[in-house]
Order: sequence, then structure tokens, then C-alpha cells
Amino acid sequence: MKKILFVSSEVHPLIKTGGLADVCGSLPIALAELSQDIKLILPRYQSLKITEEVRFLCTVRVDNRNVNILETRLPGTQVTVLLVDYPSYFNLPGNPYVDELGEPWPNNAERFALFCKIAVEIAMDRAYLDWKPDIVHCNDWQTGLVPALLSLEYERPKTVFTIHNMAYQGLFPKATIYDLNIPGPLWHIAGLEFYDKLSFIKGGLVYADFITTVSPSYALEIQTAEFGYGFEGLLASRKASLGGIINGIDLGHWNPEVDPYISQTYTATTLTKKRPNKAEVQRQFGLAIDDKIPLFSLIGRLVEQKGIDLLIECLPEMMSMNLQFVLLGNGDKAYEKQLQVLADEYPNKIAIKLGYDEVLAHVIEAGADIFLMPSKFEPCGLNQMYSQRYGTIPIVRKTGGLADTVTDTLPQTLAQDTASGVVFNEASAGALLEAIKRALILYNVPSAWKKMQVNAMSKDFSWQRSAAEYLALYNNL
Ligand code: ADP
Ligand code: GLC
Repeated sequence: MKKILFVSSEVHPLIKTGGLADVCGSLPIALAELSQDIKLILPRYQSLKITEEVRFLCTVRVDNRNVNILETRLPGTQVTVLLVDYPSYFNLPGNPYVDELGEPWPNNAERFALFCKIAVEIAMDRAYLDWKPDIVHCNDWQTGLVPALLSLEYERPKTVFTIHNMAYQGLFPKATIYDLNIPGPLWHIAGLEFYDKLSFIKGGLVYADFITTVSPSYALEIQTAEFGYGFEGLLASRKASLGGIINGIDLGHWNPEVDPYISQTYTATTLTKKRPNKAEVQRQFGLAIDDKIPLFSLIGRLVEQKGIDLLIECLPEMMSMNLQFVLLGNGDKAYEKQLQVLADEYPNKIAIKLGYDEVLAHVIEAGADIFLMPSKFEPCGLNQMYSQRYGTIPIVRKTGGLADTVTDTLPQTLAQDTASGVVFNEASAGALLEAIKRALILYNVPSAWKKMQVNAMSKDFSWQRSAAEYLALYNNL
């Protein structure tokens, strides 16, 4: 049995802005089910959705600050969550990274450095919890200083750093190193320095004993200039200690057989029961309720990564086809505006909801026929897996985890019962449009479509498999 300290800036269902939270809320449970002794550590934000009892554990002093450590459990589980309670940094409205107006917190470097330093104190058992982990598993830039700081410690735990997204790096002006009291030995170009700036993510990439990312394809992609953001050389030099482990999904939470948020539950053998769910989406979005019209959908952060510009370019031409399109998302104001203009122009075919709505996300997954994910890059992606589980056929670009989890529909894959989606290569509106046309042709061949749905729904996206891979990695370290 390993003792694991799992460090993340978001954990579902306590707090979530994206897929990082889904992963950090379900992998620890899967590891606990493999009999591992795991504790999560998370900042105590104001908007945490805590349901279990909270108790005070201790006060830790770092950088002349007294920080309280509280303990609760992941809602509905026995998994321990340690909360880093420092109100002036974390007890604020807004989300973990931005304020209510969407502006990054001006002291993000200080906030997450403090979080990292507390994680280090706990990892070294200096918080007197009488618990010293064997493994400290860090996730994304917010936790990048942990492997770096631990590298300076004697008899330290082993460190794993998981990259969920290379596009977010935690880059701050050089002067920050003085404010954060970064130890001198870490400040050099083979350390935390990145072109004269302080890079949090580099702390993970340089100092972690092992680096993982969330799909095998992305693990290769980030070693190239297109996806590596200047870190491709460093990552390639570490390739013996770099691997991809595909994310699982929480099969309890994303399961059309028992989903409490959808109008009608269903399975692969009762696919006609998807119909009332489709009607519900059409109703909620104010579109004509018609089972025959193919219903396209997209849920996600409206940012460049997700290929929203490709979609916006395609939508006018899609309007000449018999289809409906619904979108739930928020993000880049320019995309939000362009999408709203299109929705106003084609109110019978396009309907959008700008915002974050977890229940509606389930309703859409259950009711839509087709889910679009034309991402420019996608480290793993969860929605294409949720879609497949709900018999909602994904159209994805062949990149990262999308390439690893969706099987394109071709005569051969249909014959082998593996076809589960439509995959296109080039990041262009033309290629996306071709994929959409191909999906519409398949949609009109009910026997093929049903086969795709059944194949998609029978795929194994469970965490058990991926958690076993992480455990094997911990054991190897
Ligand atoms: P990323 O982490 O890059 O945003 P993922 O596909 O890994 O992409 O995960 C996104 C997660 O966030 C999914 O669980 C998705 O349902 C959810 N999500 C994204 N945007 C919204 C939204 N506007 N409303 C509800 N859920 C959303
Ligand atoms: C990131 C990636 C996404 C991945 C998620 C969880 O946010 O953008 O592809 O699924 O992390 O690992």
C-alpha cells in the first residue's frame, strides 16, 4: 500500500472549472478502491461545495504566515481532503484563477506558491499529521513548485507531475522570485527560469521524478514544437520519464442508465428512450421538437484550444443543411459574441446558452445526436467519452486524447464493431464541414448509426484501468 498526497487546484464536486476537476475528483477514489492510502490537498476557496464534516487539524507556519489545515472528505466518499485555509488568498468570490469579472487574481503567483509550500510541509510530515506520503502526485502549473521545492529536501517522497494542459504554464515576472522566496538553487535556466521569467510548470517538468500526461498521443505531441510551447526540447530530453495515461470517466456520475438529471434513463438496448431526452434539449433551447432533425451539440470552454473558430466558420454553411445545433459554454468574449450573432440570425436552427450549467451538460449529452469537438489540441478531453457513453456520436479532430478514444467510422471499423465516431485530420473549417457531412450521411443509415451508438456505449472508459496504470507507476518509482 502506498501513501499518496494528491495535489490539485480543483477537485469535482468541491470545485470545478474544467476537466482537471473531473480527473482529480475521480482518480483518487479509484486509487482508494485499489486500497491505497490517499489524501487530497486543495485550497479552501469560498465556493467549495462541502457536504461532509470539516475539522481543524493544525496550523502550519511558512514565510511568516500562519496557515490553517482543515480536513474534510470528498462528498459521499471516505477519501480525505486537506484544505489549505488562508482566507485573504482563497476565501474570495470568483473561481480559483479569476475574480468575478474574469480577471486573473493579481496575486496568483503568491496564492499558488503558498499552496505548494504547504503541500511540501505536509509531504515532509512537518505539519505533525503523523503521515508521510511515499508519493506526491501534482497536477498542472498551480502545483509545479512542489516537485521543485521537494527536490531540495533530504529523504523526500517521490514526485509525479501530470500535465493536463501545456497551454497554461504559470509564467510570472522574474521579480516574483523574491516575493515568493524561491530558493536560489532553483533559479537557473535548467531550473525554474524560462526566458527570464518564473515558470511554475517548469518546476514539474524539470524536477518531478516522473511526468505523465493524460493521453499517449499528447505525450508524443508535446515533444514537438507545435504542442510543446518551447518545452518540447526539455520534454524530449525527459522522454524516459514521460508517459501518457488516458483519463477515465466517473461512470457513476456519467451514466445514462441512472443519471438523475435526464428525462428518461436508457441503455444500449433501449436507445429509443433517448428520444424524450432529445425533445427535452429542443424544449430547453427553444427549438422545434422533432425527432427526425439531427441535433448537433457542443459543451465546453469557448477558447482557441477547442476549435471554436472552425465551428463559427462552418455554421453559416451548416445552415443550408437539415439540422439543429445547441451550444453550452462560456469563455472568450469575442467567441461568445460571434456565436450570439449567429444564434440571432438563425433562431430556428442555432440556440446557445452562455454560462456554466452542470445539469444542462447532462441533459445535452443524453439528448443530442452528435457532439462536436473540433479541438486544435486536446490533452485528453472528457466530453467525447461522456458522449460515447450516452450514445451521442462525437465528431472529433484527430489530436491528443480525441485520437486515442474515438474510432472513426469506416467500412472496416463498422464491420469490426469498433466504429464509434467521426474523426477528421486537418484543423480547418473545410475538414470539419466534410466530417459533419459524413456524419449526416451515416445518420441517415439507421442500421449503421445504431451500430455506432452501441459500439460507443460499450467502450470501457472506466478509471479502474487507468488507476492501475498510475499505481504501477508509483510502484516503479
Ligand atoms: P477542458 O478540461 O479542457 O475544459 P475536458 O473535456 O477535459 O476539457 O473537460 C471539460 C469538463 O467541463 C467536462 O466535464 C464538461 O462537461 C465541463 N464543462 C465545460 N464547460 C461547461 C459548461 N459551460 N457547463 C457545464 N459543464 C461544462
Ligand atoms: C485539461 C485538458 C483536457 C483534459 C483535462 C483533464 O483541461 O484541456 O483535454 O481532459 O485537462 O485531464
